Amino acid sequence: MSIIRVLTFSFSGIDPVPVEVQVQMTRGLPAFIIVGLADKAVTESRERVRAALTSMGIALPPKRILVNLAPADIVKEGTHYDLPIALGILCAMDIMPQEELMHYAALGELSLDGALGNVNGVISASIGAAAEERGLICPYNQGSEALLGGDIDILAAPSLLALLHHFTGKQILSKPEFSDFPLPPKDPDLYEVKGMEGAKRALEIAAAGGHSMLMIGPPGAGKSMLAARLPSLLPNLTPQQSLAVTRIYSSAGLLPNSAPIIRPPFRSPHHSASQVAITGGGVRVKPGEISLAHHGVLFLDELPEFARNALEALRQPIETGNISIARATSHITYPAYFQFIAAMNPCRCGYAGDTERECHRIPKCKEEYTRKISGPLLDRIDLITNIEPVLPKDIINIASGEKSEIVAKRIKLAREQQLTRQNMLNNEINTNHIQLDQVVAEMVEKASLQLKLSARGITRLLRVSRTIADLALKSEIDISSVAEALTFRQR
Ligand SMILES: Nc1ncnc2c1ncn2[C@@H]1O[C@H](COP(=O)(O)OP(=O)(O)OP(=O)(O)O)[C@@H](O)[C@H]1O
Ligand SMILES: [Mg+2]
Repeated sequence: MSIIRVLTFSFSGIDPVPVEVQVQMTRGLPAFIIVGLADKAVTESRERVRAALTSMGIALPPKRILVNLAPADIVKEGTHYDLPIALGILCAMDIMPQEELMHYAALGELSLDGALGNVNGVISASIGAAAEERGLICPYNQGSEALLGGDIDILAAPSLLALLHHFTGKQILSKPEFSDFPLPPKDPDLYEVKGMEGAKRALEIAAAGGHSMLMIGPPGAGKSMLAARLPSLLPNLTPQQSLAVTRIYSSAGLLPNSAPIIRPPFRSPHHSASQVAITGGGVRVKPGEISLAHHGVLFLDELPEFARNALEALRQPIETGNISIARATSHITYPAYFQFIAAMNPCRCGYAGDTERECHRIPKCKEEYTRKISGPLLDRIDLITNIEPVLPKDIINIASGEKSEIVAKRIKLAREQQLTRQNMLNNEINTNHIQLDQVVAEMVEKASLQLKLSARGITRLLRVSRTIADLALKSEIDISSVAEALTFRQR
């Protein structure tokens, strides 16, 4: 008895791993068995396939149907195996010609009436199919999503019946086309923030060099408001970045209209979020907030309120730009290169430093609160800035500030300087990339001793100095750039 083989993929993070769906029909007691480390959603596929075939007027033959998902040692998760299993069975029953199918990989979820529903990871599957020199069969609504993965032959089918008609020559499916995507909504604009010149300057520096930033200030001072305006200062994603980010959203099932993501994402998980929600993982592994913030901004508001293990888990990705999740049998890596922005009150009650409003437990109240953020995490923050609340008269009288558009132009220039000089933003450079003249070097040394900066701290100080010099279009780091950078390291 011959074995039918249909190619599909499982996903390790966002990477496609080829999986062969092997179908064998033999004489024996009627049965329908799926083997090959299939999780519950995959074994349930049996019932969906059976129902979908019934809806087409096809009954499973009274035979022993064995479906093996090879290689059998990697865990198969998700509902996208429905389609390749159904196609394999149709071939085994000689209802569908097998040779045609050899040119494709397939994925899709079947509903009971045989319609094909959306699945996660279509872009990655399309990249995988291109690597295997095959086309891809996917659900109709995800045709344009599949196109993002590569220039391959794509069959986007509304139902299993439509596919059967296509392969038997009754009605050929038309090729999917890029649809017109709605423009992403406009990011909130910086001109709405009144006053706060110091804080806006810090935000501009952070945006220009991709630096991490912590804002400390009393409630209602405008910290959250400012952070939400960072994306409006950042340039569009490059095509490669856009593909990388869109793939992550596709694999998390967060790409409802299949539109590619072109603006840097902004993620602000609530402080009650679990470590798994932030870093990714779980029983059925999903990318976490840090991966959804890839090439964009991760904003943690009320930083000390986050679970300690969630904050500690950020240390590795901030350094490496990806997150490695350990599973029982393997490690899964997701990209997580994000700009880290955090905000906090100076103490639990929120008013430390304000002589009229601070509580009687100062300075203990403040110390206890900041202690929740570990030294190593603080050490990874380039800019620490104190946010002073705007005075009531300023909120009412002051004219609106600069528009994001104008600030973004300065940032674009500063970024271009960095990319031509060192091919990366300043948040990634190390001391080898930086030359200082004698006077500046002495100043850095003295300040580092005084502030007890770690080696990492010094590197970060120099990175910020470099960005400040870049914003001023200076080719060398000068004393005034270092002096300004130093104001962002004191707490
Ligand atoms: N500089 C400002 N210009 C205009 N409006 C402001 C400014 N600062 C604060 N506001 C107003 O106050 C509101 C509260 O600000 P925001 O939520 O950013 O404060 P916060 O510092 O994050 O406070 P909390 O510590 O309580 O989270 C804003 O939505 C905005 O309406
Ligand atoms: Mg806030």
